[in-house]
Amino acid sequence: MAQLPDGVKLTWLGHATFLLDTGEARILIDPWVQNNPACPDDLKDLGSLDAMLITHAHFDHIGDAVQIAKATSPEVIAIVETATWLGSKGVEKTIDMNKGGTVEVAGVKAHMVHAVHSCGITDGDQILYGGEAAGFVIELADGFKLYHSGDTAVFSDMELIGRLLEPDIALLPIGDHYTMGPRSAAEAVRLLDVKTVVPMHFGTFPVLVGTPEDLRREAGDVDGLEVVDLDPGGTLGG
Ligand code: NI
Ligand code: MN
Repeated sequence: MAQLPDGVKLTWLGHATFLLDTGEARILIDPWVQNNPACPDDLKDLGSLDAMLITHAHFDHIGDAVQIAKATSPEVIAIVETATWLGSKGVEKTIDMNKGGTVEVAGVKAHMVHAVHSCGITDGDQILYGGEAAGFVIELADGFKLYHSGDTAVFSDMELIGRLLEPDIALLPIGDHYTMGPRSAAEAVRLLDVKTVVPMHFGTFPVLVGTPEDLRREAGDVDGLEVVDLDPGGTLGG
């Protein structure tokens, strides 16, 4: 299994929310914490944050973004339209970007990549245009790369992400219904050519039926694949 570099910790807060501690900086991906039913209560106090990366604007990814940003004042990276909306809600240190681009923040490089999903922002009783859903390849100082796909279906250009950015570890949704399920996620593993996968976006709601065991079975042909079966609150590395 791809070991995280020394001193780097990745904690799954449940659903698609992860806290990456590089040893130098604390980076929250998809801030859904206080209202995330899968997040253990003892992890809901995040402490200080240096950056927040947002894949898309659905409530289960940005539900606590404004509150957390105001409390911890991180740099907040999102696609242009969603970043602009967050700014309109009083989030101060937004960095808007778009797919294909790379932004250096908190000692890492955040490469924004494609995702096949929607991105409406629920604002009161309206759904506003939030740009497009995206994923991130996060490149640590020593070159180690983590891919958080965000919510997505499988798409053949995952092969391009694999070729250009060569992620060492992939965080992939497997729940089905709103994202790919285990069979599609197994194809994503083949396209990306990754050997370490952390399943996410499953089990939170009854409709998210995919399981890590299903992914293991569907990807049984992939030599050397490790499906890292974390529980919410579980940590890799450290
Ligand atoms: Ni979504
Ligand atoms: Mn989602």
